[in-house]
Amino acid sequence: MGLFDGKKGLIVGVANDHSIAWAIAQYVMAEGGECGFTHLPDRPDDKRQRNRRRVALLTDKAEKARFLVPMDVTNDAQIGEVMKTAADEFGQIDFLLHSVAFAPLEDLKVDTIRTSREGFKLAMEISAYSLIAVAGAASEIMNDGGSMVTMTYFGGEKAVPGYNVMGVCKAALYSIVKYLAFDLGPRQIRVNAVSAGPLRTLAGRGAGVDDMLTLYEQMAPLGRNITHEEVGRAGGFLLSDMSGGITGEILHVDAGYNMMGSPGRMVDQYREQVAP
Ligand SMILES: NC(=O)c1ccc[n+]([C@@H]2O[C@H](COP(=O)([O-])OP(=O)(O)OC[C@H]3O[C@@H](n4cnc5c(N)ncnc54)[C@H](O)[C@@H]3O)[C@@H](O)[C@H]2O)c1
Repeated sequence: MGLFDGKKGLIVGVANDHSIAWAIAQYVMAEGGECGFTHLPDRPDDKRQRNRRRVALLTDKAEKARFLVPMDVTNDAQIGEVMKTAADEFGQIDFLLHSVAFAPLEDLKVDTIRTSREGFKLAMEISAYSLIAVAGAASEIMNDGGSMVTMTYFGGEKAVPGYNVMGVCKAALYSIVKYLAFDLGPRQIRVNAVSAGPLRTLAGRGAGVDDMLTLYEQMAPLGRNITHEEVGRAGGFLLSDMSGGITGEILHVDAGYNMMGSPGRMVDQYREQVAP
């Protein structure tokens, strides 16, 4: 018996095999869930359809993957098309994973105080508002008792140098999680977020993950970084009935980093350096 036997849902945010969405989808499918996938649409001049191909390489081999369709979260018509495809294929759905973020590099790479108006709007639209747009559309075809999960990072709770405008977006995203959890509560639909520690992915690289990996190893209580599989299981837990009764929450999968009130064992290293 799998945790997701008989369950069907949508996975939004797979770009390649490093994507967090793929880690969660793999867990869900291994537990018996059927998944419909979306990919970022290819530019009309990209005859090789690179975005689609990178995701199709994965979904074509997955027995429980039911469809792969384009969806840009800034485009309401495309969101509607995806829900129509899901309704045709599944009837109703039981879960939605939203694992999407974007900010223009020129805005992500500067201090928050230098964020441009246009960059801010785009980052907020794709990284925060899109949860409202996609969750709203998905709720129309979701069974009562379903579950929605989005991905966030600690930089939305506290100031993390280098995370900049994306931290502001994640703060908004978490607020959206809470308000959607309230809105959908009467239907027993739960909305939660997983806050992952740094992982090497396309989006992660843009957000300065490489520096953070070293920091986490030294500061997190577990003394290491997390794995894709760990986020996969935690996301699967929140998408499944196992997490019934939990809504509007952030589940940190970060080796404990977020709860530290000091640099932890890094202090010992510092002491050794200054007073050998
Ligand atoms: N990698 C990390 O260290 C880390 C840590 C915590 C949270 N997160 C969050 O996890 C989520 C997934 O990121 P990831 O690290 O797996 O990287 P990723 O690059 O694999 O995934 C980001 C996804 O966003 C999609 N996307 C961007 N703009 C879009 C648009 N307009 N329409 C539709 N899709 C769009 C991309 O196609 C991609 O699939 C993001 O919300 C990210 O902020 C990542």
